[in-house]
Amino acid sequence: MRILDLIVNKRNGISHTVEELEWLINAFTKEQVPDYQIAAWLMAVYFKGMTENETAALTMAMAQSGEILDLSGLPGIKVDKHSTGGVADTTTLVLAPLVAAAGVPVAKMSGRGLGFTGGTIDKLEAIPNFNVMIDRNSFIENIRRHGLAITAQSASIAPADGKLYSLRDVTGTVESIPLIASSIMSKKIAAGADKILLDVKVGSGAFMKNWEDALQLALIMVSIGRIVNRETVAVITSMEEPLGLAIGNSLEIQEAIDVLKGEGSAELRHLCLTLGAHMLVLAGRVDEVNGGYRLLHELLHSGAALAKFAEFITAQGGDASIISNSQLLPQAKHTAEISLGTAGYIRRIESARIGHAAALLGAGRMYKNQPLDLSVGIILHHRVGDYIDSDQTVATVHYNDEEKLLEATEYLKPAFELSSEKPLKSPLVLGVVKYNSVDKYF
Ligand code: URA
Ligand code: CA
Repeated sequence: MRILDLIVNKRNGISHTVEELEWLINAFTKEQVPDYQIAAWLMAVYFKGMTENETAALTMAMAQSGEILDLSGLPGIKVDKHSTGGVADTTTLVLAPLVAAAGVPVAKMSGRGLGFTGGTIDKLEAIPNFNVMIDRNSFIENIRRHGLAITAQSASIAPADGKLYSLRDVTGTVESIPLIASSIMSKKIAAGADKILLDVKVGSGAFMKNWEDALQLALIMVSIGRIVNRETVAVITSMEEPLGLAIGNSLEIQEAIDVLKGEGSAELRHLCLTLGAHMLVLAGRVDEVNGGYRLLHELLHSGAALAKFAEFITAQGGDASIISNSQLLPQAKHTAEISLGTAGYIRRIESARIGHAAALLGAGRMYKNQPLDLSVGIILHHRVGDYIDSDQTVATVHYNDEEKLLEATEYLKPAFELSSEKPLKSPLVLGVVKYNSVDKYF
């Protein structure tokens, strides 16, 4: 086989066979083809797309480019959750203990941030002494004993995806539905999930900007799941404003604790309960989503989910007293209150801008492997639909460096779009996609 033939075929709109995709991913992983040819192939895929069967074959080839975790020795159905990426998306930190408290095992491999948003692993590092790199045996043992473990995704999981993503990032080929679908599904399959729950984000702050594209991405991932025998459900959710109110690693740990206490952002809480309820259904713990939602709501208000979070932190070496004393989390030296100088209803909060401003402070990465300042970030005080006066605080910036504060503030302010009329707010949960049904809630 020759890579040039595959590039030309894809350029001309001819579908690849399973064998061709296996060959391509294998050759790329072993560095037997140069990056420039893979880059050309990625651009051809970007323009010509892939069929469902091609996307499924690409997914399996990427999953098989490294180790495939076998969690079958653990009791119960392992359901993994993945979000296509959002700002102030602290769901994993709430969901994992919540679902584990309901008796459903959570075996989670998480990443560091892709692009400017912090990843779950970055956030967990804000907890003093917390070990994000527990070995395979402790990972399995902790799930057995505590029903929950989270570890950094090892380099041996779907290595082709990491290599491909780095190339996509610098060749303008990230926003391709078959490439996003295969990237996400390959990692989940390699990490040993029996079933997969996807949170597909749609809106100005997400890769998918409109319902049609989000639906297409959801449908292809759900159908890959069916083809490879890993039942997959996708919940499509709005990203027209940051999900929670905290952006920044330490601040998001604090926000997760607030939500686990039944306080904090109502939107974040509702989304966690909704996603968790779908996970309980997939795991066979409850028969229907409403029952799951009610059960998880009780576990939140009884304190059981928070107790599970404390148990999980302790099991991975961390200091669980952060739950009662947030001062033990990394604290920025200064805070600044931001107002806009104009009054009106908030029509939109541009998530990408907020994320970028937080990255400028040091909460996210501007380049690969950049060390983070876990203490800094942004707390939002308002949501879309709120009326604000010209001198009213819309955000508090937690910072350590005066120059970075100025830069971040300049970036932050235009994220708030105001209007003289109260805007209509779209619901947070827009739809649910299963292999045999699409439910639309708006
Ligand atoms: N998240 C992923 O893991 N991969 C993509 O390609 C996009 C979002
Ligand atoms: Ca101050």
